[in-house]
Amino acid sequence: MKLGSKVIVGNWKMYKTVTEAIAFVDALLPKISNYKESVLLAVPFTALWPLHEKCKNTPLEIGAQTMNSAEEGAFTGEIAGRMLKEAGASFVLLGHSERRRLSGETDSVIHKKVERALEDNLLPIVCVGETLEERKEGRSEEVLERQLKSVFEGLKWKGDLLVAYEPVWAIGTGQTATPDIIDNIHAFIEEKVEALLGVKPRILYGGSANSANAPTLLAIPNVGGLLIGGASLDLESFLSIIENSHSFQ
Ligand code: 13P
Repeated sequence: MKLGSKVIVGNWKMYKTVTEAIAFVDALLPKISNYKESVLLAVPFTALWPLHEKCKNTPLEIGAQTMNSAEEGAFTGEIAGRMLKEAGASFVLLGHSERRRLSGETDSVIHKKVERALEDNLLPIVCVGETLEERKEGRSEEVLERQLKSVFEGLKWKGDLLVAYEPVWAIGTGQTATPDIIDNIHAFIEEKVEALLGVKPRILYGGSANSANAPTLLAIPNVGGLLIGGASLDLESFLSIIENSHSFQ
């Protein structure tokens, strides 16, 4: 995986069957074939293996949207990091707010998942972000600090590190955080993570990013890339964002 200065990561969430995933990737690959920097796509588990062969020796890296913290075991319905790795994943999203809210993932569970992902040679992309209520109460930094501390404290890792700032109120709402908020929060996250791990993280922004606002978001100096939900499902929108990020490399 070769991470450019602005990394584009699509998160398909629970969209696209295997057939739909293959059709999308077949159409995407020729358009990005001569890119040197990787484009990342977090796909449903079922699409990993079928996309695996297609993405070999291409700039497209496929990954998963969650995993269990155990190596293996009697955990019905769960998936292990090494299964994802063998199926072709090179990275995994961890701590997405939809997982925190819908599946009760706590900070300490996310910490264990990050440790396991690193052991299984998967690059974790750790998602953090405050809710609208927390922002209104002026507690954004307090919440982010708690999330970062629980996830990263005690972790022994000096390699690439990707953190996605995804304010919960901006996800799927059409309301992006302002450049000012993003700039301030990214600086805050960078400082906290560096203090905890001694590693400077690359910080992605996520939350209603699309082809129209990507040029503004990507131009913010401490935005290391975008994590894109809805707009990654549409080939033209996703391509337009990728092409824009390419102009910064
Ligand atoms: P949207 O881009 O649809 O707001 O989703 C953001 C997200 O949750 C990416 O992980």
